[in-house]
Amino acid sequence: MIVHIYGLPVEVEPILALAQQHGLRVIEDAAEMHGQTYKGLPCGSFGDLSTFSFYPNKHITTGEGGMIVTHDRALADRCRSLRNLCFQPQKRFVHEELGWNLRMTNLQAALGLAQLERLDEFVDRKRRMGQRYTQRLQHIAELQLPIATTDYADNIYWVYGLVLEDTLPLDAEAVMKQLAAQKIGSRPFFWCMHEQPVFRKMGLFEGESYPVAERLARRGFYVPSGMALTIDQLDRVTCVLEELLK
Ligand SMILES: Cc1ncc(COP(=O)(O)O)c(C=O)c1O
Repeated sequence: MIVHIYGLPVEVEPILALAQQHGLRVIEDAAEMHGQTYKGLPCGSFGDLSTFSFYPNKHITTGEGGMIVTHDRALADRCRSLRNLCFQPQKRFVHEELGWNLRMTNLQAALGLAQLERLDEFVDRKRRMGQRYTQRLQHIAELQLPIATTDYADNIYWVYGLVLEDTLPLDAEAVMKQLAAQKIGSRPFFWCMHEQPVFRKMGLFEGESYPVAERLARRGFYVPSGMALTIDQLDRVTCVLEELLK
Protein backbone atom coordinates (compact mmCIF):
# COMPACT_ATOMS: atom_id res chain seq x y z
CA MET A 1 0.00 0.00 0.00
CA ILE A 2 1.36 3.45 -0.88
CA VAL A 3 0.50 5.96 1.82
CA HIS A 4 3.15 8.13 3.41
CA ILE A 5 4.93 11.24 2.11
CA TYR A 6 8.57 10.80 3.10
CA GLY A 7 10.77 12.51 0.46
CA LEU A 8 8.08 15.05 -0.41
CA PRO A 9 7.87 18.64 0.86
CA VAL A 10 4.95 19.77 3.02
CA GLU A 11 2.43 22.26 1.59
CA VAL A 12 4.19 25.64 1.68
CA GLU A 13 1.45 28.25 1.05
CA PRO A 14 -0.45 27.79 4.35
CA ILE A 15 2.80 28.33 6.29
CA LEU A 16 3.74 31.45 4.31
CA ALA A 17 0.19 32.83 4.67
CA LEU A 18 0.22 32.27 8.44
CA ALA A 19 3.63 33.97 8.73
CA GLN A 20 2.44 36.94 6.70
CA GLN A 21 -0.74 37.25 8.76
CA HIS A 22 1.23 37.41 12.02
CA GLY A 23 4.36 39.21 10.78
CA LEU A 24 6.58 36.18 11.36
CA ARG A 25 9.80 35.18 9.62
CA VAL A 26 9.95 31.70 8.08
CA ILE A 27 12.95 29.39 8.40
CA GLU A 28 12.52 26.64 5.82
CA ASP A 29 14.16 23.35 6.75
CA ALA A 30 15.08 22.01 3.32
CA ALA A 31 17.75 19.69 4.82
CA GLU A 32 16.98 16.82 2.48
CA MET A 33 15.29 18.63 -0.39
CA HIS A 34 18.22 19.09 -2.80
CA GLY A 35 16.81 19.08 -6.31
CA GLN A 36 13.18 18.96 -5.08
CA THR A 37 10.57 21.42 -6.32
CA TYR A 38 7.23 22.58 -4.92
CA LYS A 39 4.76 23.52 -7.69
CA GLY A 40 7.74 23.91 -10.01
CA LEU A 41 9.75 26.22 -7.72
CA PRO A 42 12.90 24.99 -5.96
CA CYS A 43 12.57 23.91 -2.32
CA GLY A 44 14.94 26.06 -0.32
CA SER A 45 13.61 29.24 -1.98
CA PHE A 46 10.57 29.83 0.25
CA GLY A 47 11.95 30.84 3.64
CA ASP A 48 13.39 34.14 4.82
CA LEU A 49 16.20 31.72 5.57
CA SER A 50 16.31 28.20 4.13
CA THR A 51 18.69 25.49 5.24
CA PHE A 52 20.21 22.45 3.52
CA SER A 53 22.15 19.57 5.07
CA PHE A 54 25.22 18.02 3.45
CA TYR A 55 25.30 15.02 5.80
CA PRO A 56 26.39 11.83 3.94
CA ASN A 57 22.87 10.48 3.39
CA LYS A 58 21.84 13.56 1.40
CA HIS A 59 21.81 13.86 -2.41
CA ILE A 60 24.86 16.14 -2.06
CA THR A 61 27.34 15.66 0.77
CA THR A 62 30.42 17.45 2.02
CA GLY A 63 30.97 14.85 4.76
CA GLU A 64 29.20 17.04 7.33
CA GLY A 65 27.87 20.57 7.38
CA GLY A 66 25.26 22.39 5.41
CA MET A 67 24.21 25.65 3.83
CA ILE A 68 21.90 28.56 4.58
CA VAL A 69 20.36 30.41 1.63
CA THR A 70 18.39 33.65 1.67
CA HIS A 71 17.18 36.40 -0.66
CA ASP A 72 17.94 38.98 2.06
CA ARG A 73 21.43 40.50 1.84
CA ALA A 74 21.41 41.73 5.46
CA LEU A 75 20.49 38.28 6.74
CA ALA A 76 23.19 36.72 4.55
CA ASP A 77 25.80 39.09 5.99
CA ARG A 78 24.64 38.30 9.52
CA CYS A 79 24.85 34.53 8.90
CA ARG A 80 28.35 34.94 7.44
CA SER A 81 29.40 36.90 10.51
CA LEU A 82 27.86 34.43 13.01
CA ARG A 83 29.53 31.41 11.40
CA ASN A 84 32.89 33.22 11.53
CA LEU A 85 33.05 34.11 15.25
CA CYS A 86 31.56 37.56 14.55
CA PHE A 87 34.96 38.92 13.60
CA GLN A 88 34.59 42.58 12.69
CA PRO A 89 35.88 43.58 9.25
CA GLN A 90 37.79 46.55 10.74
CA LYS A 91 38.85 45.24 14.17
CA ARG A 92 39.21 41.50 13.72
CA PHE A 93 39.60 40.43 17.35
CA VAL A 94 37.02 42.78 18.85
CA HIS A 95 33.61 41.15 19.12
CA GLU A 96 30.29 42.99 19.53
CA GLU A 97 28.44 39.63 19.53
CA LEU A 98 29.15 35.96 20.20
CA GLY A 99 29.49 33.82 17.08
CA TRP A 100 30.66 30.32 16.22
CA ASN A 101 33.39 28.73 14.16
CA LEU A 102 31.08 26.97 11.70
CA ARG A 103 33.14 27.71 8.60
CA MET A 104 33.06 25.21 5.76
CA THR A 105 36.54 24.40 4.45
CA ASN A 106 37.42 25.02 0.80
CA LEU A 107 38.06 21.30 0.41
CA GLN A 108 34.53 20.47 1.55
CA ALA A 109 33.05 23.20 -0.64
CA ALA A 110 34.93 21.88 -3.69
CA LEU A 111 33.51 18.42 -3.03
CA GLY A 112 29.99 19.85 -2.77
CA LEU A 113 30.30 22.04 -5.85
CA ALA A 114 31.47 19.13 -8.00
CA GLN A 115 28.42 17.16 -6.88
CA LEU A 116 26.10 20.12 -7.47
CA GLU A 117 26.99 19.90 -11.17
CA ARG A 118 25.60 16.33 -11.10
CA LEU A 119 22.50 16.98 -8.98
CA ASP A 120 20.03 16.22 -11.78
CA GLU A 121 21.76 12.90 -12.41
CA PHE A 122 21.66 12.03 -8.68
CA VAL A 123 17.96 12.91 -8.37
CA ASP A 124 17.23 10.84 -11.46
CA ARG A 125 19.14 7.88 -10.03
CA LYS A 126 17.36 8.13 -6.66
CA ARG A 127 13.99 8.36 -8.40
CA ARG A 128 14.74 5.24 -10.39
CA MET A 129 15.72 3.43 -7.17
CA GLY A 130 12.54 4.61 -5.46
CA GLN A 131 10.38 3.51 -8.37
CA ARG A 132 12.03 0.10 -8.46
CA TYR A 133 11.57 -0.42 -4.71
CA THR A 134 7.88 0.49 -5.08
CA GLN A 135 7.43 -1.74 -8.09
CA ARG A 136 8.95 -4.70 -6.25
CA LEU A 137 7.35 -4.13 -2.82
CA GLN A 138 3.85 -2.88 -3.56
CA HIS A 139 2.31 -6.33 -3.50
CA ILE A 140 3.38 -6.87 0.15
CA ALA A 141 0.26 -6.05 2.15
CA GLU A 142 2.16 -5.51 5.44
CA LEU A 143 4.21 -2.62 4.02
CA GLN A 144 3.24 1.03 3.61
CA LEU A 145 5.35 2.65 0.90
CA PRO A 146 6.15 6.29 0.13
CA ILE A 147 3.86 8.17 -2.22
CA ALA A 148 5.45 8.72 -5.66
CA THR A 149 3.69 11.94 -6.54
CA THR A 150 1.23 14.58 -5.33
CA ASP A 151 -0.33 17.50 -7.21
CA TYR A 152 2.54 19.74 -6.02
CA ALA A 153 5.69 17.57 -6.14
CA ASP A 154 7.22 14.28 -7.25
CA ASN A 155 9.15 12.26 -4.68
CA ILE A 156 12.96 12.55 -4.88
CA TYR A 157 13.43 9.54 -2.55
CA TRP A 158 16.30 10.97 -0.52
CA VAL A 159 15.65 7.86 1.57
CA TYR A 160 13.24 5.01 0.97
CA GLY A 161 11.12 4.67 4.10
CA LEU A 162 8.90 1.70 4.87
CA VAL A 163 6.20 1.57 7.55
CA LEU A 164 5.02 -1.81 8.84
CA GLU A 165 1.26 -2.30 9.03
CA ASP A 166 -0.13 -2.74 12.56
CA THR A 167 -1.36 -6.22 11.64
CA LEU A 168 2.24 -7.45 11.44
CA PRO A 169 3.42 -8.84 14.80
CA LEU A 170 7.01 -7.66 14.17
CA ASP A 171 8.08 -4.05 14.78
CA ALA A 172 10.74 -2.12 12.85
CA GLU A 173 13.49 -3.02 15.33
CA ALA A 174 12.84 -6.74 14.85
CA VAL A 175 12.76 -6.49 11.05
CA MET A 176 15.95 -4.39 11.01
CA LYS A 177 17.69 -7.04 13.15
CA GLN A 178 16.68 -9.74 10.71
CA LEU A 179 17.89 -7.65 7.78
CA ALA A 180 21.22 -7.11 9.56
CA ALA A 181 21.56 -10.90 9.97
CA GLN A 182 21.39 -11.06 6.16
CA LYS A 183 24.04 -8.31 5.95
CA ILE A 184 21.56 -5.65 4.84
CA GLY A 185 21.95 -2.28 6.55
CA SER A 186 18.88 -0.24 7.47
CA ARG A 187 18.12 2.78 9.64
CA PRO A 188 15.26 3.58 12.02
CA PHE A 189 12.95 6.58 11.61
CA PHE A 190 13.48 9.54 13.93
CA TRP A 191 12.45 8.93 17.55
CA CYS A 192 9.71 11.18 18.97
CA MET A 193 10.73 14.35 20.78
CA HIS A 194 8.29 13.71 23.66
CA GLU A 195 9.87 10.30 24.29
CA GLN A 196 13.48 11.49 24.35
CA PRO A 197 15.05 10.55 27.72
CA VAL A 198 16.91 13.87 27.84
CA PHE A 199 13.64 15.82 27.81
CA ARG A 200 11.82 13.39 30.12
CA LYS A 201 14.65 13.82 32.66
CA MET A 202 14.01 17.56 32.47
CA GLY A 203 10.35 16.92 33.37
CA LEU A 204 9.09 17.84 29.90
CA PHE A 205 6.23 16.17 28.00
CA GLU A 206 5.01 14.32 31.10
CA GLY A 207 1.84 12.31 30.39
CA GLU A 208 1.77 13.46 26.76
CA SER A 209 1.09 11.12 23.88
CA TYR A 210 1.36 11.63 20.14
CA PRO A 211 0.18 8.33 18.65
CA VAL A 212 1.07 9.05 15.00
CA ALA A 213 4.69 9.94 15.83
CA GLU A 214 4.92 7.02 18.28
CA ARG A 215 3.69 4.59 15.65
CA LEU A 216 6.04 5.88 12.95
CA ALA A 217 9.03 5.69 15.33
CA ARG A 218 8.26 2.06 16.14
CA ARG A 219 7.11 0.80 12.76
CA GLY A 220 9.21 2.80 10.30
CA PHE A 221 12.67 2.14 8.88
CA TYR A 222 14.74 2.90 5.78
CA VAL A 223 16.18 0.37 3.37
CA PRO A 224 19.48 1.01 1.54
CA SER A 225 19.39 3.67 -1.18
CA GLY A 226 22.91 5.09 -1.29
CA MET A 227 24.17 6.36 -4.63
CA ALA A 228 26.44 3.31 -5.01
CA LEU A 229 23.64 0.76 -4.55
CA THR A 230 23.38 -1.54 -7.58
CA ILE A 231 20.13 -2.87 -9.03
CA ASP A 232 21.10 -6.40 -8.00
CA GLN A 233 21.66 -5.26 -4.41
CA LEU A 234 18.32 -3.41 -4.40
CA ASP A 235 16.55 -6.46 -5.77
CA ARG A 236 18.16 -8.62 -3.09
CA VAL A 237 16.83 -6.28 -0.37
CA THR A 238 13.31 -6.67 -1.74
CA CYS A 239 13.64 -10.48 -1.98
CA VAL A 240 14.87 -10.72 1.63
CA LEU A 241 12.04 -8.47 2.83
CA GLU A 242 9.48 -10.53 0.94
CA GLU A 243 10.85 -13.68 2.59
CA LEU A 244 10.84 -12.10 6.08
CA LEU A 245 7.29 -10.79 5.84
CA LYS A 246 5.76 -13.94 4.37
C1 LIG B 1 14.40 17.61 8.01
C2 LIG B 1 15.80 17.56 8.58
N1 LIG B 1 16.27 18.62 9.25
C3 LIG B 1 17.52 18.63 9.77
C4 LIG B 1 18.36 17.55 9.63
C5 LIG B 1 19.71 17.60 10.27
O1 LIG B 1 20.73 17.84 9.35
P1 LIG B 1 22.27 17.74 9.82
O2 LIG B 1 22.53 16.30 10.12
O3 LIG B 1 23.09 18.25 8.67
O4 LIG B 1 22.39 18.61 11.03
C6 LIG B 1 17.93 16.43 8.92
C7 LIG B 1 18.79 15.27 8.74
O5 LIG B 1 18.48 14.31 8.08
C8 LIG B 1 16.61 16.44 8.38
O6 LIG B 1 16.14 15.37 7.70
